[in-house]
Amino acid sequence: MGDLARLVPTGALDRDTAVMISLQLVAAGAESTVSLLGSAVYLLGRNPHIIDELCGDRDLVSPFIEEVLRLESPFRGHYRHVVADTVLGDVDLPAGSHLYLMWGAANRDPENFDRPEEIDLTPTARRSHMAFGKGLHLCVGAALARLKGRVAINHLLDKAPNGFVVDTTDPDWERSLLVRRLRRLPVRLGT
Ligand code: HEM
Repeated sequence: MGDLARLVPTGALDRDTAVMISLQLVAAGAESTVSLLGSAVYLLGRNPHIIDELCGDRDLVSPFIEEVLRLESPFRGHYRHVVADTVLGDVDLPAGSHLYLMWGAANRDPENFDRPEEIDLTPTARRSHMAFGKGLHLCVGAALARLKGRVAINHLLDKAPNGFVVDTTDPDWERSLLVRRLRRLPVRLGT
């Protein structure tokens, strides 16, 4: 954002382009991170023993955030249009095909994760996930999103030394093929 603000007055970047880039950053970065934070608290509510583990060792907050990204990937998938005949793995993708890359499904692939449905904070766990995409379009905001996740969860643990109660009985997930986001999540600080 600082670069945009600096470049426009010099004429190196026109104002409309700067506005579009800003819109793209806000659109891509806001809802996705809200999804991450909601899912993180939801998973803590479903797995209270993890709260104890994080309180006992704050270094585990980072791997926990990675597991939230893997288990409840804020973007379930993204679309692609195939512009030239392509073979991917052993699958033919003719020009003109439309694909839906399912990050969320890949992140629970039993061929890639030993216990795909569980939160695994052990240092040796294989944690490489696709919640931020892969390759050319890899998320430019990944580091910022991870930072926000760490700050928010540490803040929650600081503010709720007596624990917190999350109502996970009837989770209100957004009905969407694209996003995985809780519309609301009741949380009460204290026990
Ligand atoms: C938990 C939070 C986030 C998740 C899960 C996420 C996920 C993703 C994914 C999966 C892609 C790849 C899209 C594709 O291949 O079609 C992507 C791209 C992108 N993300 Fe994020 N994102 C997050 C946060 C952010 C933030 C905070 C920003 C900006 C401040 C951001 C900006 C972008 C942009 C600009 C792209 C497009 C990159 C390109 O096409 O070269 N994202 N993100």
